[in-house]
Amino acid sequence: PVQIWDAQQIEKAEHDIVEAGEILRQGGIVAFPTETVYGLGADAGNSSAVEAVFAAKGRPSDNPLIVHISQLEQLDHLVQQVKPVERRLMEQFWPGPLTLVMPVKPEAVSPYVTAGLDTVGVRMPDHPVALRLITAAGCPLAAPSANRSGRPSPTTAAHVAEDLSSRIQGIVDGGSAGVGVESTVIQVQEDGTVMILRPGGITEDQLLTVAPAVMIDPGLSGVSADTTPRAPGMKYAHYAPRGSMTIVRSEDAEAVRYYIKEQLHQAAQRGEQTGVLVFDEDQDDYGSALHLSLGSRSTPEVAASRLYACLRTLDAHNITFILATGCAETGVGMAVMNRLSKAAGGQVVNI
Ligand code: TXA
Ligand code: MG
Repeated sequence: PVQIWDAQQIEKAEHDIVEAGEILRQGGIVAFPTETVYGLGADAGNSSAVEAVFAAKGRPSDNPLIVHISQLEQLDHLVQQVKPVERRLMEQFWPGPLTLVMPVKPEAVSPYVTAGLDTVGVRMPDHPVALRLITAAGCPLAAPSANRSGRPSPTTAAHVAEDLSSRIQGIVDGGSAGVGVESTVIQVQEDGTVMILRPGGITEDQLLTVAPAVMIDPGLSGVSADTTPRAPGMKYAHYAPRGSMTIVRSEDAEAVRYYIKEQLHQAAQRGEQTGVLVFDEDQDDYGSALHLSLGSRSTPEVAASRLYACLRTLDAHNITFILATGCAETGVGMAVMNRLSKAAGGQVVNI
């Protein structure tokens, strides 16, 4: 089995974190907790270590990695320049779930990290174990989410072990990730406008407290065929459970529950293993279907923290037919609905 260092109580884990940091320093790949999801870290300047991360995940090589730092001084080595709005965003939201895409200093990171782009995404995670590990490694860590490519992101060390145990040098266990969805990825335009490339833990309203204007990358909605997302990762069918999932939407909660019951009944007759992933307001007696709850529609933070574990539970029960309901795309609800629609491969019925 893979080496797991228990760092749930950081004061007792100093020796273990230093050991994991040493492995990273020598070019190994180690999974570690952050406040969003677990990351799979490698020395961002070491191409063979970064290649090993892509190989362990089975990740397409055109999808760049986020570089994680523990101190602001590390930033100057990584990027060409920092705009005033970027500086203010960092002051406000770092450490935290915000990744800024900025012009890279090419000699500073492996070209595999940026997938050949002239920009690099950087963030300072808000997790004491992550910060301590980066400092122990003595280098910025390139780290994608620590899942096999296409699987839901891991929010516990057990999820990481499920996907990657035979492929990596170790896992630093820091308990459950808090936020549960990944960081918000942004790029600041020349005029200071913030472009959201991937919705995440920092909300549009939070960004608006610092930035003059915030826009959502038109490539995210997928409305027009000629808009490709600016974050290469957003074009992939991500986060998906193995079963087929559909999101059911309507103003009329009773109609939703009725529709779900009908569809579950038909699916069960076809021999499908059925499951529902719904908000509390949409709960009902769905018979033999596996019932999973994302909490109340009014608490999207709770939904974010539960979402990926729920998707993995559906797989663990071999569920083949899944119906889900949605929440408003406000606050963290924007990230929740983005991940849920990706998990559903864009299958939505409006009734
Ligand atoms: O919360 C997070 O961000 C987690 C934790 C581990 O920090 N990491 C994470 O990494 O979600 P990953 O690799 O699963 O997703 C990185 C996203 C991808 O969609 C990628 O395309 C985008 O960030 N990205 C990275 N560098 C970029 C760049 N230079 N330009 C545009 N998008 C970039
Ligand atoms: Mg990922």
